[in-house]
Amino acid sequence: MVTFPVLRPRRLRRTKLIRDLVAETELRVDDLVLPVFVKDGINEPEAIPSMPGVFRYPVNDRLLKFLESAVEKGIKAVIFFGIPKEKDPFASSAYDKNGVIQRTLRMVKQTFGKRLVLIADECTDEYISHGHCGVVKEKGGELIVDNDESLEVHARIALSQAEAGADVVAPSNMMDGVVGKIRRALDENGFTDVLIMSYSVKYASTFYSPFREAAYSAPAFGDRKTYQMDPRNAYEAIKEARLDIEEGADILMVKPAHTYLDVIRLVKTTFPEYPLAAYHVSGEYTMIKAAALNGWINEKVAVMEVTTAIKRAGADLILTYYAMQLADWIKEGDPF
Ligand code: PBG
Repeated sequence: MVTFPVLRPRRLRRTKLIRDLVAETELRVDDLVLPVFVKDGINEPEAIPSMPGVFRYPVNDRLLKFLESAVEKGIKAVIFFGIPKEKDPFASSAYDKNGVIQRTLRMVKQTFGKRLVLIADECTDEYISHGHCGVVKEKGGELIVDNDESLEVHARIALSQAEAGADVVAPSNMMDGVVGKIRRALDENGFTDVLIMSYSVKYASTFYSPFREAAYSAPAFGDRKTYQMDPRNAYEAIKEARLDIEEGADILMVKPAHTYLDVIRLVKTTFPEYPLAAYHVSGEYTMIKAAALNGWINEKVAVMEVTTAIKRAGADLILTYYAMQLADWIKEGDPF
């Protein structure tokens, strides 16, 4: 039995034009941040087996050419991950004036000036012998990542990145107090304009595994569960985000993204006045990529659906290995 008036939500979906008119969410090229791996000691881009379609770049004109094509597509921000020649117990190549990241930042800044926002991932894991996100010490017969000693190293790395030209430093180590420590170090050295984008809500996730192969950064022993968040917790994200805000973070981040849409929504609605980034991480990338390479999924539609969902959940910025293709796909028009 049809009653009158019949309420018909379908009227709003009848044509593509009507759907576009009333769409709540629109993905923009301006929202995208392109992650870029730079590696010391190579001359040509190197394919990353665990991440088809992603490369490690040398610090030379090959990198500049790649970034030029990103800028042509309208991409405005990149985040750099460095892979040094050698690791040591102090992560000294992470704050070396001539380290891979520092040389990259200087070269890219000089070439692109204000045409690109340069973000530097700030961590020790790619540079330190044991692959952890801080300094390891023995305590009661156990190896632990020492929070307060690690802060010194992180502040030193962030400062050297700012000196080399980073517009934004992005601590990804989940040490308590790291944002405040870095903010103070930057301010005391005249870098009051350098932003901090904090990986505030970073989960201990298996979806980072392809990245760890790409950056040779898997921990040599143990895991990251004593510093990265427990996937079972959502409300704890509020605490992590609030502390980072109090310590001076400019931009917050939730990571991973696709698997944590509820957390993105929670952080955005709790702190709507803070820009929120979400990191569509390596494993989330490779799941779609693998399905696409097998012909099991339409890659463009899948990626646009996922990234639009990340934005719909509340992210203002999206870090994604699909940034280059997405820039083209957004211009071609959405599939909705
Ligand atoms: C730490 C860092 C990691 C990622 C970004 N920064 C690895 C980790 O925490 O093990 C992962 C990003 C991804 O999986 O795409 N420097």
